[in-house]
Amino acid sequence: MHKGIAIYPGSFDPPTNGHLDLIERGAKIFEELVVAILRNSEKSPMFSVAERLEMLRELTGHLKNVRIDTFDGLMVEYAKSLDATCILRGIRAISDYEYELQMALMNRKLEPTLETVFMMPADKYSYVSSRLVREVAQAGGPVKGLVPEVVEQKLREKLDPAYKLRDARLIEGLGKKDLDKREKKRKKKA
Ligand code: PNS
Repeated sequence: MHKGIAIYPGSFDPPTNGHLDLIERGAKIFEELVVAILRNSEKSPMFSVAERLEMLRELTGHLKNVRIDTFDGLMVEYAKSLDATCILRGIRAISDYEYELQMALMNRKLEPTLETVFMMPADKYSYVSSRLVREVAQAGGPVKGLVPEVVEQKLREKLDPAYKLRDARLIEGLGKKDLDKREKKRKKKA
């Protein structure tokens, strides 16, 4: 096990099974792993930073040496503020390599003492990205198996707020048949 702190930075919008796979691998080789969500992303995110923080905390609760945080500005500055020694990034396919190489070399130029370590997620997740998950979910396609169940549920709620209401009512004890009927009516009206 590598002593010290490693940072796994990213957008995590939303977290995928590929991210989780990498976090679990990273947690095995680093003494402490900080999953760091970028706050000032220019992209307009699907999930707020608070939502991503909550999802990642729930997903990694079983990993005692992993914690979730957010950061702003330069990643190397954030890493320095934590006394981290490594940056962890995942590489899925050759297509990731160019961008990751550029980023690793730029980070090295900015802070030569910080090493970037690349790990490969399980091959079954080699095509999974947050961008494609958002695209598939937004078009109404299934994302089962690509993201953890918690994320699947959040995507459903985000894209169809009626689901949230439905779950709340089910918890309150309303019958499933009634809810199905009401939802059919609501969809007809919409
Ligand atoms: O999940 P992503 O979107 O591929 O993560 C990219 C991220 C957040 C790691 C990268 O954009 C980043 O570190 N941004 C912070 C600003 C910074 O330090 N930029 C210089 C890196 S070359």
